[in-house]
Amino acid sequence: MDKPFSQACENNKQPILNILQEAFANVVSVLEIGSGTGQHGVFFAAHLPHLVWQTSDMADNHDGINAWIDACPSDNLKRPIPFTLGQDTWPEGSFDGVFTANTTHIMQGDEATLMMQSVAENLPPDGVFCQYGPFNIDGQYTSDSNRAFDQSLRARGYGGIRDVSELQRWVQGSGLALCHRHLLPANNQLLVWQKRCK
Ligand SMILES: C[S@@+](CC[C@H](N)C(=O)[O-])C[C@H]1O[C@@H](n2cnc3c(N)ncnc32)[C@H](O)[C@@H]1O
Repeated sequence: MDKPFSQACENNKQPILNILQEAFANVVSVLEIGSGTGQHGVFFAAHLPHLVWQTSDMADNHDGINAWIDACPSDNLKRPIPFTLGQDTWPEGSFDGVFTANTTHIMQGDEATLMMQSVAENLPPDGVFCQYGPFNIDGQYTSDSNRAFDQSLRARGYGGIRDVSELQRWVQGSGLALCHRHLLPANNQLLVWQKRCK
């Protein structure tokens, strides 16, 4: 199979990696939610050799992810497991890190809520969640292009861009706390969450 290709992944992988190198410095096992093409997984596993990277997504995307893993294998990169929030239970394994890119605005509101709450419930103390994508701040879009993107997402039936304060509200009292909010190119952000004791 030809490898699926996302130009956005090629553009954002290095800026994201620059942050993951610090955020995941003490993490040993990462679950990636919604691996998509698989481009992020092969790149991050190769550049973060101290940890194991477990890809996951809906079964429809597995052939593409496997094609990338066939082309760019790493000993610390695991083939995709089926995981759809709202359908599947949290995957087996002890993950002290979770990564997801460009999934929060694709998911329906109840799926995005479930993702936040599942991460909060399943990460061990000190576990780290890195969440990349477009997000609103204090009810405001961060750019006109994000406003237009949100309108097109919602018109196509996707959940749409979420506000950071909404994400925080969903995990209130869970011990999952937002530690850093990094501004990245193309009006995207990388949110770094950490599990504290409740
Ligand atoms: C826009 S793509 C992003 C893919 C990749 N992470 C990237 O940054 O290019 C959204 C991804 O979210 C996945 N996704 C959508 N709804 C999901 C759900 N409920 N549970 C898990 N993954 C989901 C899709 O299958 C798809 O791979």
